[in-house]
Amino acid sequence: MSATMLQRQRTLETILRLAPVVAVVTIDDARHAAPLARALVAGGIRAIEITLRTPAALDAIRRIAAEVEDVAIGAGTVLGADDLRVAEDAGAKFGVSPGASPTLLDAVEKSTLPFLPGASSASEAMTLRERGFKLQKFFPAAQAGGADYLRALAGPLADVGFCPTGGIRAANAAAYLALPNVVCVGGSWLSPPEMLRAADWPAITALARVAAALPRNGR
Ligand code: 3PG
Repeated sequence: MSATMLQRQRTLETILRLAPVVAVVTIDDARHAAPLARALVAGGIRAIEITLRTPAALDAIRRIAAEVEDVAIGAGTVLGADDLRVAEDAGAKFGVSPGASPTLLDAVEKSTLPFLPGASSASEAMTLRERGFKLQKFFPAAQAGGADYLRALAGPLADVGFCPTGGIRAANAAAYLALPNVVCVGGSWLSPPEMLRAADWPAITALARVAAALPRNGR
């Protein structure tokens, strides 16, 4: 593995360990981006993934990168080289993908962005591991087998750390976070669309506070 890849993995791990939960946010109105990020940070959530699924996403990343302190802002739903480039240009500090393709991984290797690629099976996790990705998104976590599936991977793939995402809520997050191979979990439950629409930042801070207090690996 190249030195830059190793360094990027270390940076990514630092980001993923900032809090037990990475907030996954799909945003329609970029004007909400900075207040939302501040509300999450006030509750103790320090890493935010803005999904590249709406026209407002890149502007949201730009605003958070420029206006909000103490937060690691990332881009999610990175599907190809173009997404990677525009995310990095907007100021994203990390990238996330739901799965991985050889083309995407080639582009990731050429870029400098810390990157969390997705896997949902032992074979996919092994393929990513071979290319140096020891940190992976387990997606879609609940649908792909949940915490039981991930626990089963901890034996044979002991050196891979996961951020399970997909179908995770306050009620089931603890089951994932208790696993030895889980670094953090990701989820959209900290930014419900109705709270975003209402600009109810105190309610979002309250959700973030509960998430930030979740124990990790029994600690
Ligand atoms: C996603 O990329 O959609 C994330 O995995 C969020 O999933 P969730 O909405 O089930 O938390």
